[in-house]
Amino acid sequence: MQVGELIGPVDVGPIAHGGHCVARVDGQVVFVRHALPGELVQVRVRDVTRRFARGDAVEIVRPADERVSPPCPVAGECGGCDFQHVAPAFQLELKRRVLAEQLQRLAGIVWDGVVEPVDPLLGSRYRMRFVTDADGRLGLRAHRSHEVVPLPSEGCRLAHASMPRRVREMATDSADVTPGERGGEQNRSPFDEPAEYLGVVSAEGGRLFRPGTDALVTQQVGERTFTVAADGFWQAHVAAPEVLTAAVLDGLRPEPDERAFDLYCGVGVFAGALADAGCQVWGVEGNKAAIALARRNVPQARFQVGDVARTLSRLPGRADLVVLDPPRTGAGKAVMAAVARLRPRAVAYVACDPAALARDLGFAAEHGYRASSIRAFDLFGMTHHLEAVAILYR
Ligand SMILES: C[S@@+](CC[C@H](N)C(=O)[O-])C[C@H]1O[C@@H](n2cnc3c(N)ncnc32)[C@H](O)[C@@H]1O
Repeated sequence: MQVGELIGPVDVGPIAHGGHCVARVDGQVVFVRHALPGELVQVRVRDVTRRFARGDAVEIVRPADERVSPPCPVAGECGGCDFQHVAPAFQLELKRRVLAEQLQRLAGIVWDGVVEPVDPLLGSRYRMRFVTDADGRLGLRAHRSHEVVPLPSEGCRLAHASMPRRVREMATDSADVTPGERGGEQNRSPFDEPAEYLGVVSAEGGRLFRPGTDALVTQQVGERTFTVAADGFWQAHVAAPEVLTAAVLDGLRPEPDERAFDLYCGVGVFAGALADAGCQVWGVEGNKAAIALARRNVPQARFQVGDVARTLSRLPGRADLVVLDPPRTGAGKAVMAAVARLRPRAVAYVACDPAALARDLGFAAEHGYRASSIRAFDLFGMTHHLEAVAILYR
C-alpha cells in the first residue's frame, strides 16, 4: 500500500477512538475518514506506517442509511469537521460507541448511557483557530496538513453568528494585521505568509486576535461574569460552561461549608459555582495568567498555581468534594491516587478524551472510587469529539 494509491472497494468496519472507521485490507489496518460503518468505499491512501495506514473515503460505492450530504461546502477538505457526512442522531450514536468501548476496554466499565445533544449544533463555537491563506483570506487547516482551506463565503457553519469571517472585520488590540495597513504598502499582497488568528466571541462581540495577545474578554455563565484571556482556555461551545457546571453540581450536590477542590481550574468556572453553593473552595491551575484571573473572578476561593500532582500537598489534607477537569492527556495515576487520599465524599471528573477518562477511572477504582454516573455531551457537533462528566463515590 502506498501514499496516493486508490484502494477498494473496501468494507468499512466499526468506528474507533479518534473518529475514523477501521477497515482491513490484505491484513493491514486502515483508518478511514469520511466513511461510516458498514459502507463499501474506495479509499485514497494518505499515510502509511509500519502498523497501519490512513486514508479518505473518496467514492462511496454502498452508502450507509445514516449518510447525509454535508451542510458545509468545504466538508472533506477542511480539517475542522470529520462528521459532516453523518446524520446528527447517528453522530451521537458513533460517539456513544467510542466512549462505551473505551470504558469497557480500559476500565472494565459497562456503560449504557447516551451522548446528550446540546443546542445549537451549528453556530455554536465561541472559540476557533483560523489561519490565512496566501491571499489573506481566513481559513482552517486541512486535516493533518499545513494547507489552508479558505472559509466558505457564509463563514464556518460551526462558528457563532458573531464570529468574524474576514480579517477586515477585526476590531482588536493588534493593529498590524489589517490588509492594506500592513507596512503601508497598499498594492502588495496583504500577507506574505499564513498568519494565525484566534476567533473569540464574548460579551464584547466577535473579534480576532493574534496568538500570544494579552487581551482579556468577558464571558457570562449564569449569574457569574468571568474575565478570560483571549489566548487562554475557554470551552469552545457557547453552552458548554453552563451544561458542564450543571452536570457537576447535579452530580456532587454540594452542601454549604463543604470543602471543595477545583483541580485544573482555569479561570475558576467550577470554583465559582461551588462557592455560590456555599462551599469553601480551593483551586489549582498550572497557568499563572489563568490563576490571576481566577482570583479576580472568584475572590471567595483560594487558588494555587502549579502542577496539580505537585501542588495538591499545599492544600488541606481532606476535601469533601473534588472536581477535576484535566487536559486531553488526563490526570494520571499519581493525581487520581492523591485525590483518593483526600477521602472526598464525591468526585466530578470532566473529560474531553474518552481514553484518558477510562484510564483515570481505572486508577480511581484501584483506590475504591467508582463511577456512579457517566454523562456525555455533544459539545463538539460535526466532529468526533465529546465531553463527559463522571461522578465518583467511594
Ligand atoms: C480542560 S482545561 C479546564 C479549565 C477549566 N476547568 C474550565 O472549564 O475553564 C484544563 C486546564 O488545566 C490546566 N493544566 C494542564 N495541565 C496541568 C497540570 N499538570 N497542572 C495544573 N494545571 C494544568 C490548563 O492550563 C487548563 O487551564
